[in-house]
Amino acid sequence: MTTTPTPTDTDAEAVAGEIAPWFTHDRFGMFIHWGLYALPARHEWVMNYEKIQQEEYEKYAKYFDPDLYDPRAWARAAKAAGMKYVVLTTKHHEGFCLWDTALTDYKAPNTPAGRDLVREFVDAVRAEGLRVGFYHSLLDWHHPDFTIDGRHPRRDDSPEEIERLNAGRDMATYREYLHGQIRELLTDYGRIDYLFYDFSYEYEPHNPVWGGKGAKDWGAEELLALTRELQPGIVVNDRLGIPGDIVTPEQYQPSEPMKVDGVEVPWEACQTINGSWGYFRDNHNHKAPELMIRMLVDGVSKNGNMLLNVGPTARGELDSVATEALEAFAEWMHLHSRSIYGAGASAFETPVDARYTQRGNRLYLHLFSWPFEHIHLPGLAGKVEYAQLLGDASELSFREIDPDTPALTTGMGGQPAGTLTLQLPVVRPDVAIPVVELFLKDEA
Ligand code: GLC
Repeated sequence: MTTTPTPTDTDAEAVAGEIAPWFTHDRFGMFIHWGLYALPARHEWVMNYEKIQQEEYEKYAKYFDPDLYDPRAWARAAKAAGMKYVVLTTKHHEGFCLWDTALTDYKAPNTPAGRDLVREFVDAVRAEGLRVGFYHSLLDWHHPDFTIDGRHPRRDDSPEEIERLNAGRDMATYREYLHGQIRELLTDYGRIDYLFYDFSYEYEPHNPVWGGKGAKDWGAEELLALTRELQPGIVVNDRLGIPGDIVTPEQYQPSEPMKVDGVEVPWEACQTINGSWGYFRDNHNHKAPELMIRMLVDGVSKNGNMLLNVGPTARGELDSVATEALEAFAEWMHLHSRSIYGAGASAFETPVDARYTQRGNRLYLHLFSWPFEHIHLPGLAGKVEYAQLLGDASELSFREIDPDTPALTTGMGGQPAGTLTLQLPVVRPDVAIPVVELFLKDEA
């Protein structure tokens, strides 16, 4: 019987001050946005967008009955897709908690779900040998002490009403609640590999009157210290309003490796399938699976991770669009994952319409468009000992064409010095992105 290896404390131990190596090795994770917002199914910010009063919004807790919830199926789909870690929303801005917290009644055990959904998630993800991450909202539109600000669903109430409401609210009490819940999550569920806090908005251009919130409001320094004390080696993102271990660009593709003060930093782009994080029934703005695979490759070619989001329905299932996207990743990663895991940017000049990922002396050429028979690779002349299509390990030949070679009717002319010309089959391999694996000479 094969046992599923569980990430142990010894593999890839974090060096003090260094990010846990598993993160920059594994490159690909699943983000899961799930909560009461799956019921209105109109975006996870529906309470804000539609300025739904809390009393009205609470009705969804009465109908939250995810009878088809099977986190093991989610974890299996993630694993098959080649994802190595899974990050679940424990609480989103709406304030509803998926675990059995002692600090509020606004939680899954008090709904028809009737149980701790985070417990089952953690057990399922671990059982599939994947790493566990928690997303936790710093905002809380349900908590009675969270003051109304520029992003609050009640931001457009009358100024007098907001003044009156805020007079009775104490952010210090909210901070205690926030830190208390983090203590629960990082104490009662075993090893947690990644904490994705969300988000700080100190500078609130949308509503300068009521303004935003940031590090001070969250007690960020203490919260980060608590997080590290309870889970040494955990990876923490950059949204507490103070620096974290990684930066988290959202819904765009960085054009180069990310830097902070000129220093390159580990990063992870979090991406949606259709622009919404929560399940959005009538939003059909779906990215093509091939585009999302290209986004993964593009990110790795710039030393970045991809955290691809799914928004399960209120029944607890992944919808068909998410399932199809994960299956497309499964098909491609089955053949090409070694061009992703442990790989990163290469110093070699990338040809047009392609990306390089490199892992030691293996250089992976990802072809976003299929050229006719040849591709010229600047700077690789004399540096390659063997080449193959990664998908089927079929050999590819290559040569250097002397720069002085005249172009003839039926013969290609010379290429700039240092260029290696690779011979490709006419027929494009039937995979989302064809990849050439180049074995570099040690001295390359
Ligand atoms: C943004 C969205 C929030 C989502 C987060 C994920 O902050 O507003 O809803 O959870 O991104 O990165």
